[in-house]
Amino acid sequence: MAIYLVTGAAGFIGRSIAAALLARGEKVRGIDNFIAGKRSNLDGLEAMEFIEGDLTDPSTCAKACEGVEIVFHEAALASVPRSVADPVTTNRHCVDATLNLLVAARAAGVRRVLYAGSSSVYGDSPTLPKHEEMIPAPISPYAVAKLAGEQYMRAFYRVYGLETVVLRYFNVFGPYQDPTSHYSGVLAIFCRKMLAGEQPSIYGDGEQSRDFTYIDNVVHANLLAAAAPAEVVAGQMMNLATGTRITLNDTFAILQDLTGYSGKPAYQEARSGDIRDSLADIRLAEKLLGYKAVVDFREGLSRTVEWYRSIV
Ligand code: UD1
Repeated sequence: MAIYLVTGAAGFIGRSIAAALLARGEKVRGIDNFIAGKRSNLDGLEAMEFIEGDLTDPSTCAKACEGVEIVFHEAALASVPRSVADPVTTNRHCVDATLNLLVAARAAGVRRVLYAGSSSVYGDSPTLPKHEEMIPAPISPYAVAKLAGEQYMRAFYRVYGLETVVLRYFNVFGPYQDPTSHYSGVLAIFCRKMLAGEQPSIYGDGEQSRDFTYIDNVVHANLLAAAAPAEVVAGQMMNLATGTRITLNDTFAILQDLTGYSGKPAYQEARSGDIRDSLADIRLAEKLLGYKAVVDFREGLSRTVEWYRSIV
């Protein structure tokens, strides 16, 4: 039986992919160093073999890849502001870790590596929607690091034939996303604060927009990418989103409805490294994977609010 390795298995996206694989009866190994991941995210994943370890250590990567057929590489320090504050640490955990993992995967005879890419690589170009043929123009250290990881994926396919697939995620949100750090995704922060009756901050004028992608869509696309024929997906890179966008101000208004919070946001200075608008062209994923968003933004937001409500 194939073994699936999920890196960042105690993180929001990693644990969601691991849970879906386990639900299908697959054999899953997870690894996490708990820098961004949380032990409580492993609740419900008891059937997963778990390694506490850091991918910056090559011998840990070798151990993690032993006997593995497919890797879902979700481990990262997924934050723009964190990378602005400490670019070296972001580079270590996004770039060095990815290269070590690829070297170990190749040595262990892993067949396919799926990589959590990031929409941040498009930078602040005004062209919308962002399509894969655009030349990347990262503006934060985080985006540079995620792009380097992508390029390693493609190089490992070109030079060693390792089947790598890059999925460029656009602002993923949903249950299990950590709402407690100021490096957290905006929707996790808003949900937690508004449910607690605390005033959220909006950086800038709130008219920035995002293609917010509910976690089930990301899990769905990853499972499709894992199963797709090599001749269709190996060496490919594609956007993973919904193909729609919404401003923070409009999102705030929907969240007022869903949470019952009646206050106003506190507008603060725009954040350094932020981009203005983000919207994905998702035609390539539709074509290569047969991908279609399975949960739309409003439904996803409503499920997310209910989940945060259930944990307080
Ligand atoms: C970026 C990347 C994304 C990456 C993520 C990791 C882009 C388009 N996306 O997302 O690929 O996975 O970083 O963190 O570059 N905000 C507030 N109030 C808050 C928190 C955030 O107004 O309390 C604002 C931010 O200034 C930003 C927007 O909300 O304008 C979204 O922020 P965030 O959720 O951190 O994600 P991005 O920076 O868009």
